[in-house]
Amino acid sequence: MLDAPSNRPALPPEIARRRTFAIISHPDAGKTTLTEKFLLFGGAIQMAGQVRAKGEARRTRSDYMQMEKDRGISVSASAMSFDFKNFRFNLVDTPGHSDFSEDTYRTLTAVDAAIMVIDGAKGVESQTRKLFEVCRLRDLPILTFCNKMDRESRDVFEIIDEIQENLAIDVTPASWPIGMGRDFVGAYDMLNDRLELMDRADRNKVADSIQISGLDDPKLAEHVPAGLLEQLKEEVEMARELLPALDKQAVLEGHMTPIWFGSAINSFGVKELMEGIGNYAPEPQPARAEPRQIAPEEQKVAGFVFKVQANMDPKHRDRVAFVRLASGHFERGMKLTHVRSKKAMTVSAPVLFLASDRELAEEAWAGDIIGIPNHGQLRIGDTLTEGETLKVTGIPSFAPELLQSVRAGDPMKAKHLEKALYQFAEEGAAKVFKPSIGSGYIVGVVGALQFEVLGARIESEYGLPVRFEPSQFTSARWVHGPKDAVETFAAKNTQHIATDNDGDTVYLTRMQWDIDRVERDYPEVTLSATKEMM
Ligand code: G4P
Repeated sequence: MLDAPSNRPALPPEIARRRTFAIISHPDAGKTTLTEKFLLFGGAIQMAGQVRAKGEARRTRSDYMQMEKDRGISVSASAMSFDFKNFRFNLVDTPGHSDFSEDTYRTLTAVDAAIMVIDGAKGVESQTRKLFEVCRLRDLPILTFCNKMDRESRDVFEIIDEIQENLAIDVTPASWPIGMGRDFVGAYDMLNDRLELMDRADRNKVADSIQISGLDDPKLAEHVPAGLLEQLKEEVEMARELLPALDKQAVLEGHMTPIWFGSAINSFGVKELMEGIGNYAPEPQPARAEPRQIAPEEQKVAGFVFKVQANMDPKHRDRVAFVRLASGHFERGMKLTHVRSKKAMTVSAPVLFLASDRELAEEAWAGDIIGIPNHGQLRIGDTLTEGETLKVTGIPSFAPELLQSVRAGDPMKAKHLEKALYQFAEEGAAKVFKPSIGSGYIVGVVGALQFEVLGARIESEYGLPVRFEPSQFTSARWVHGPKDAVETFAAKNTQHIATDNDGDTVYLTRMQWDIDRVERDYPEVTLSATKEMM
C-alpha cells in the first residue's frame, strides 16, 4: 500500500505545484484540440493550429511513416510542459490508435491523473472504456471533460448516468451546460457560482467570467435567454438533489469524477478544466518500487523509464528515454546510477519538453518528465537513482495478440536482422521470440499496423528488406515458476518453447486448450499474459 498523502511531510513548493497527467479518450472526441488549447492557455504556443500530431486513428500508414520521419515533432508531442496560474502542468501524450495501446498503458504508469474526454453526442466509447479500466487498476484520479457541447449532444443527465453505470464511478457536475447545439450559450460554474459565456466570434478567446451570487441573481437574466434560464435553474436544482456533491478525497481515490461541459474547438470550458486540474488532480505521488516505495519529497533523485523512442535523428541511431522523475531535484550534469547495469551515467544533455520545442533541461523536479538521449543503454522499466538499488515496479509488458515469423530478404543478413529486432523489442515496439527449434524469429505485436511500420523501419534504418509470414502460433505466454519446474516443462515441450529478448522463457501455442492443459498438467508452472519490464 502507498502511504496516504496526509502522512507525508510537506512537499517542496516546486514539487507541490506540479500536475502530471494524460488524456484518455476515444479517437475523434477532441484530445488533440483540447491539448492545443491547453498549450495556448499555458502560453506554450501563440496560435492554435501548431500541434501537428493529429488524431492517430485517422492516420493512414503513409501518414504514420511521414510522422516517423518527423520524429522530432512526434517526440516533442509525447510530453509537454507548460505553466498555468501557479501550476506546472506535464501532459504526457497517449497514442490514440488502439494498435499502440501497450505504449498507452505504460504511459499511464508515469502520470498521477487522467483527463477523460468524451464526445457529448457519443458518450462513453470503447477505447475510453478500455483506458478507463487501466486507470482504475492504478486508482488514478480522473477528471472528465464532455466536449462538443456546441453540437447537438445527449441529455446531460443521460450522459452522467451513462458514465456512472458504465464505468462504476460517481459523477459530480463541476459545471452545467446552458443550452446545446446552436442554442449553446455557455455554462454555469457550479463550483464557483460563475457564469461562463462562450465567445462565438473568436474561437481562441475566452469571455470573462461573470460572478453571480447564485441562481436567483438577476444578472443571470441579462445574459441567458428566459427559456434557457428556466431550464438551467430546474436542472441545476435537480442535479444538486440527485447527484453527489464534489468530494475531493473521493476524487483523489478515483471513486468520483468531476465533469466539465465545454467545447474545445471554441476554447470553451478549457480554463475551468485547467483550474480543476490544479485544484483536484493530485501533486506528484510516490512510485511503487522494490524494496521500498519512492516518495517525491526525498532529496535524492530517482526516476524510471516508461517509454523509449528511437531514431529521432536517423543518421545517429540515437534514442531518447522518457524518464518520469519519482523524487528529488534533478540538475543537468548529474551522475545517476543505472540500477539494472549498476553503471554510472552522467546525464549531460537531458531534454525538457516545452511544447513544440525540445529544450535542454537545466533542472527538473519530481513529477517532471525528462528525455535522456542514449545509445540503447536505457530500456523501458529501468530505474535511475543516486546510488541506491531501487527498482520501480508495475510497468507491464503484455503478451502480443498477433504473431508472425520474420525473415531477412537476404539470408546472409540474418545477424543484422537479429540486431534490428532486438532494438525494436527494447524500444517496446514489438516482442521478439526466438523459438528453441529452428533458426527464425517470431515477432509479436498488439495491432496489425505495427508489422507494417516495423517492416518499413527495418528497411529504412537497417537497409534490410524483410518478409513477415504467418506463424503456426497465435498466442504467447510467459512461463513462471520454480527454475527446475520451468526447465522440466520446457524440455518436454520444446516445439512450443521460445525465449524473448530478455532471455525469459515463453510458451507459444495456437490453442487456448493447450494453455489449459499446461495449467492442469504442470501445477507448478503458471502461464501469464503479462510480465513486469526488467
Ligand atoms: P482526437 O485527437 O481526439 O482524435 O480529436 P481531434 O481533436 O482531432 O478532434 C476531432 C474532430 O472534432 C476535429 O474535426 C475537431 O475539429 C472536432 N472538434 C474538436 N472539438 C470540438 C468541439 O468542441 N466542437 C466541435 N463541433 N468539433 C470539435 P476535424 O479533424 O477538423 O474534422 P472535420 O470536422 O473537419 O471533418
